[in-house]
Amino acid sequence: MPRQMMVVSTLEELAAGLGLLDRPLGFVPTMGYLHEGHLSLVRRAREECKSVAVSIFVNPTQFGPNEDLSKYPRDLEQDLRLLESVDVDLVWTPSPEVMYPPGFQTWVEVEQVSLPLEGARRPGHFRGVTTVVSKLFNAVQPQKAYFGQKDAQQAAVIRQMTGDLNFPIDIVVCPIVREQDGLAMSSRNVYLSPDERKAAAVLHQALTAARSAYEKGERRADALRQAMKDVLGSEPLAQTQYVSCADYGTLQELQERVTGKALLSMAAYFGKTRLIDNEVIG
Ligand code: PAJ
Repeated sequence: MPRQMMVVSTLEELAAGLGLLDRPLGFVPTMGYLHEGHLSLVRRAREECKSVAVSIFVNPTQFGPNEDLSKYPRDLEQDLRLLESVDVDLVWTPSPEVMYPPGFQTWVEVEQVSLPLEGARRPGHFRGVTTVVSKLFNAVQPQKAYFGQKDAQQAAVIRQMTGDLNFPIDIVVCPIVREQDGLAMSSRNVYLSPDERKAAAVLHQALTAARSAYEKGERRADALRQAMKDVLGSEPLAQTQYVSCADYGTLQELQERVTGKALLSMAAYFGKTRLIDNEVIG
């Protein structure tokens, strides 16, 4: 008979629960309101590890003052049902008081790779992410941790942090899971009105246009950025914040030609909802 999924909250319960799990342990950190993107990470962990742990914590320190912390969607009951259906061993739902005890003043900050793209538009965001993920890693001590390519820069920042701090953890990055029309799955998609939801497919269309230009031989970074801008500009409900064609390793904007691996990425507003997407070329 399959063992029951453990759901724990305090650090003491977590330690007791972890003690019962076989290694290697795979870990999937999340902010909940789970969808197929999150579940794809869990399934991958299930394939590769003896045990799987998932955390659900809406991390206040990675939200800016004008961002959506208070209205970030939550549905713990549904999340637990979904996690049970993909055979998770342990779910950790820490309270804000556990993650940020009174007087908290210790931060983990990754430098260069946090600065461009999302880092430039969301000051402090990656400092919040790296701080919370360090704390989650310390508490769970997994052998492998799973992240989505959906948040390409986040994955790069976590990889850098894991190496720099000598966390003995393999970082596994999994492909973007998309809806039928190409929209990358995101907990934030629920904010979209029906019209905005339709319009949001333009993100993936813009990436596809740039990729197809690349495949036809276009190598000028400017031309690839323009191809994305043109498609985004054709959708009246999309307000483009940035488009980027960056070096895959450093995430620095390419000034001339794409020679190696590059990251095409963008952020755009649909009404008040900010969505991101990306694709790797080369
Ligand atoms: P959250 O947005 O809940 O995402 C949790 C993980 O799921 C991340 O690694 C993210 O990249 C991945 N993910 C989200 N949508 C995906 C999709 N469509 N396809 C594939 N993977 C997808 O990212 C966070 O939470 C937080 O920043 C966190 C790392 C938990 C730290 O608070």
